[in-house]
Amino acid sequence: SHTPTPEDRFSFGLWTVGWQGRDPFGDATRPALDPAESVRRLADLGAYGVTFHDDDLIPFGASEAEREERVKRFRQALDATGMTVPMATTNLFTHPVFKDGGFTANDRDVRRFALRKTIRNIDLAAELGAKTYVAWGGREGAESGAAKDVRTALDRMKEAFDLLGAYVLEQGYDLRFAIEPKPNEPRGDILLPTIGHALAFIERLERPELYGVNPEVGHEQMAGLNFPHGIAQALWAGKLFHIDLNGQNGIKYDQDLRFGAGDLRAAFWLVDLLETGGYDGPRHFDFKPPRTEDLDGVWASAAGCMRNYLILKERAAAFRADPEVQEALRASRLDELAQTTLGEHETLAGFLADRTAYEEFDVQAAVERGMAFERLDQLAMDHLLAAR
Ligand code: GCO
Ligand code: MN
Ligand code: MN
Ligand code: MN
Repeated sequence: SHTPTPEDRFSFGLWTVGWQGRDPFGDATRPALDPAESVRRLADLGAYGVTFHDDDLIPFGASEAEREERVKRFRQALDATGMTVPMATTNLFTHPVFKDGGFTANDRDVRRFALRKTIRNIDLAAELGAKTYVAWGGREGAESGAAKDVRTALDRMKEAFDLLGAYVLEQGYDLRFAIEPKPNEPRGDILLPTIGHALAFIERLERPELYGVNPEVGHEQMAGLNFPHGIAQALWAGKLFHIDLNGQNGIKYDQDLRFGAGDLRAAFWLVDLLETGGYDGPRHFDFKPPRTEDLDGVWASAAGCMRNYLILKERAAAFRADPEVQEALRASRLDELAQTTLGEHETLAGFLADRTAYEEFDVQAAVERGMAFERLDQLAMDHLLAAR
């Protein structure tokens, strides 16, 4: 069925449906949405969870009393709808104080403020039952060469994550961090620009097991990368803690289109992978309903994200179940890729002594056998387009 239910584990950021359409060239085209209203509408549409930046829920600089009131209203909406908060994050990019970054700002007092702001929202995230804390460093970067000593900035980035990890352990929170890569925008160049950079960074932290990645479809595609391949490597590394689903048309500004828009074939392979690759986290949408839309258009766009996911899930399952596809996979020797290159008990000496591996290897025969990938991919296309 293409109708979402809480079992599908769809979640949305408050800032997605709540985006008022302000962009670098134009003012808001929509009114502000009350977070409690967003929770109710998303629940009605079939989502199970909602996520937030501290500032989405509690305006920057709000008084203690206002903070309590806002959190109370949000909690009431959660209780009334049964919606969960699987993830939360910190806004370290909107306020002008973060113009040169949060964890890696050149100014030390700004870094200390960014850490305290983050810790404050980690407490709230834990209180609301979140299991994942996302860190997107949109302002961590530079527009010019001498402005940021990248190796030193990475030391400060490591210091920040090590400190936050120590805090979470000390508090006994059941919370892990997910780093979200992005190549650029709003900074000219952002630190940890791709999944690969983030995975390598995590291994340098004090407690790597506390950190994974939160890749976003459009961000890897802004760098011209293959998103399903990046997700596959994150899964392979045991690091896919969370995911931001949306749409993007190639290498250009961050479009944040609804999921299924943009590169549809990448979306098909992504859903195929998520559904068969052992990912059991939320299917989280981080998109922006275009500023052409009124509020009806916002809810239509949110519903479209989930509907497209479910359609692609059905299409991918049909592809995998088709006997002709299974035969085509064998013809393309995917089963052979799954065999180890050396035999189970084969030693290095045995391998070197195997004349069929080199001296007697029939190079010409291997050249002549086709891989049959085109037939396989056309079967995928047929399934994607519901032509089979
Ligand atoms: C983007 C980013 C952000 C982050 C979000 C979480 O589109 O540039 O994805 O939307 O995901 O701010 O911190
Ligand atoms: Mn984005
Ligand atoms: Mn995102
Ligand atoms: Mn986004």
